[in-house]
Amino acid sequence: MKRIVVLGSTGSIGESTLRLVAEQRNRFKVVGLSARRNAGRLMEQAEAFDVRMVALAEPDAVAGDAKNRLAQGKIKLFGGERSSAELLEAADFDLCIHGITGAAGLPASHACLQKGRALALANKESLVIAGELLLSLSRATGAPILPVDSEHSAIFQCVRHEPRSRIRKIYLTASGGPFRDRALDAFATITRDEALKHPNWDMGERITVGSATMMNKAFEVIEAHHMFQLQSEQIRVLIHRQSIVHSMVEFEDGSMLAQLGVPDMRIPIQVALHHPDRGQFDFEPFDPVRFSNLTFSEAERDRYPCLALGYKCIKLGGTAGAVLNAADEVATQRFLDGSIRFPDIARICEAALREIPIQRADTLAAVFAADARARDFARSFATKPS
Ligand SMILES: NC(=O)c1ccc[n+]([C@@H]2O[C@H](COP(=O)([O-])OP(=O)(O)OC[C@H]3O[C@@H](n4cnc5c(N)ncnc54)[C@H](OP(=O)(O)O)[C@@H]3O)[C@@H](O)[C@H]2O)c1
Repeated sequence: MKRIVVLGSTGSIGESTLRLVAEQRNRFKVVGLSARRNAGRLMEQAEAFDVRMVALAEPDAVAGDAKNRLAQGKIKLFGGERSSAELLEAADFDLCIHGITGAAGLPASHACLQKGRALALANKESLVIAGELLLSLSRATGAPILPVDSEHSAIFQCVRHEPRSRIRKIYLTASGGPFRDRALDAFATITRDEALKHPNWDMGERITVGSATMMNKAFEVIEAHHMFQLQSEQIRVLIHRQSIVHSMVEFEDGSMLAQLGVPDMRIPIQVALHHPDRGQFDFEPFDPVRFSNLTFSEAERDRYPCLALGYKCIKLGGTAGAVLNAADEVATQRFLDGSIRFPDIARICEAALREIPIQRADTLAAVFAADARARDFARSFATKPS
């Protein structure tokens, strides 16, 4: 029986994980759950899976029924910004499925690896902002970092039995998001609702906007650089509208391997849950005949200016990833709140990388100092009317 902790359990990745686990209760025992402020849903999940430890980043959100359930004393609540990390430090578990959004997920990634336990990472921001730090921790404790992102899960499955030296290149696929056909001169009028309508995937707000700007793919480039130890020239992004080929690998002998499937995050989550084994699950069978028109094209630079910023971060190293992520978190929120336009997200992030000095990223404190500086910068960046 694998004991698992699900962080960000009330979100899209967390709920998908628990749906899978609910049907495989003989294989998994959930021992911890966490969320930011959705106490009601968190307590429902704790009851459904008989979980005794939960964490809430904003414990003041506990009210009503959730408060009554906690008062019974059967469930221990960790509260505050570091609460997910504290839960991991206290819990006895084998695998953590990490579905928290944003830089807030880093302390928990660090705590999991420091404890020497396997980390299944949907929270790509951890690797974007502190890739070198986490990779060296993983090597030191022997705790593996398993991908949950569908693209990285695809690469991971293709290279499972291959030394890294045999990889010539990887091809990360991207749907192109909702604006892949929009006229470039109509980008300034993109609305919040339009940006939140992804053509193929149903995900949380931040990653959905990140798919529209392609910042999400820039993050995935950085994630792949760390996770598979690849140089930026070895990582190519292709637009693949159908989201069926989740990514491809080219080996030194010219062979190409790809992993295919319908866009359903439960598949890469299932791979991570069962690693190094393969589990069984009754997903809808994949019929290649239904997907006979698979297309691939280059990502246009003008349409997706954020993509180049991912490559720039690899070149800059150090705290560049922390700066880019923090600037994007703030800019995305400003766009969702209606205070800036869609193209301003890329402008703010470009400016943050240009203006903020890059430091070494060898401690959590250095990473969070860069994060705080970039947040201030992005909050006060004045955008010009077009
Ligand atoms: N969704 C996908 O299909 C997908 C695919 C690939 C990768 N990812 C990555 O997976 C991560 C989660 O994405 P998502 O789409 O599942 O996001 P989401 O639906 O917005 O869910 C985010 C989850 O994180 C919790 N959370 C937020 N801040 C927290 C904090 N400071 N401490 C503890 N919990 C916190 C939220 O709790 P509340 O509900 O209380 O706010 C919620 O449970 C992101 O890094 C994303 O890039 C997602």
